[in-house]
Amino acid sequence: MVDSSYRPSHEGTLDRDSMTLSRHVLQQLQSFGPEAQDLSALMNRIALAGKIIARRLSRAGLVEAALGFTGEQNVQGEDVKKMDVYANDVFISVFKQSGLVCRLASEEMEKPYYIPENCPLGRYTLLYDPIDGSSNVDINLNVGSIFAIRQQQGSDDAETGEDLLQNGRNQLAAGYILYGPSTVLVYSLGRGVHAFVLDPSLGEFILAQANIQIPPHGPVYSVNEGNFWQWEDSLRDYIRYMHRHEGYTARYSGALVGDFHRILLQGGVFLYPGTVKKPDGKLRLLYESAPLAFLAEQAGGQASTGAQQVLDVEPQALHQRTPLIIGSRENVALVESFIQEEERERAAALR
Ligand code: AHG
Ligand code: MN
Ligand code: MN
Repeated sequence: MVDSSYRPSHEGTLDRDSMTLSRHVLQQLQSFGPEAQDLSALMNRIALAGKIIARRLSRAGLVEAALGFTGEQNVQGEDVKKMDVYANDVFISVFKQSGLVCRLASEEMEKPYYIPENCPLGRYTLLYDPIDGSSNVDINLNVGSIFAIRQQQGSDDAETGEDLLQNGRNQLAAGYILYGPSTVLVYSLGRGVHAFVLDPSLGEFILAQANIQIPPHGPVYSVNEGNFWQWEDSLRDYIRYMHRHEGYTARYSGALVGDFHRILLQGGVFLYPGTVKKPDGKLRLLYESAPLAFLAEQAGGQASTGAQQVLDVEPQALHQRTPLIIGSRENVALVESFIQEEERERAAALR
């Protein structure tokens, strides 16, 4: 006879240690169906890429040819670091054999990387920023990887697949891995935002915080004030308001993932606005802003371009940039109010 009265004496600890990422995905989707299995396997692969990248970062100062620049520029005209290339290749090699993904689109590749052998069954596209904040790599500060999963659509080998030209509400999953003192993976399947910490002794990401909510208001504003004189007046007015009002403090690490993680947990706002010369700013819509916007909304926060919700932007190109104002609801609304005020003044002057 089955003994249902037995209670393991370490139940609490073991339950916590065994809430792995793949188990969590299946639990979230409340299904063992094919799509749930796919998403669980996809997240498992992303976690594997994260572990491989974290391993190299943790010893980068000791490994030959891990630090510094390659001497090349990427399609965006930015100097490429050796770690950018390494991490980009990690994602390719992990997903090439997965059977799950038909296309990979990355900051470091001009066109999506097409894996024809996977396409008959692997109806997904993975978008990613392999190393976000790569200026931090050589000085041993935090960096991250950002990812989003979309349902693959349109002809498989299209230069820019149809699914890539849809707004961010069509993301099936999104998240990031933060390589800091701990390696932390934060993700959402559109059912809340959850954080996992890599337990190196298990080699597994274990659930650390479920259903994270961004505080509605927070003290931090996170922006590169070195661009102050390149901004529109509205942004300068907003920053002056921050300087003159108590209860605000600035934090900026040079890595979006780290700065966003602080705001996700403690509240505030991260901004990378457009400048007069570059009205769309620096951050890329498809593999930086949209995935983080998905998380922000899922956590009760907001993500705006100043003109519309980031998740409503219909992409025109794979590497398109967008201004980003992201974080606590009230902080984002305050920034938007300065932008709208300037627009009203401009419209009045034209009348
Ligand atoms: P990446 O390393 O992927 O190119 O991204 C860098 C981004 C982002 O992480 C960070 O917030 C921002 O660029 C920093 O840019 P500035 O140096 O212009 O502030
Ligand atoms: Mn980046
Ligand atoms: Mn990058």
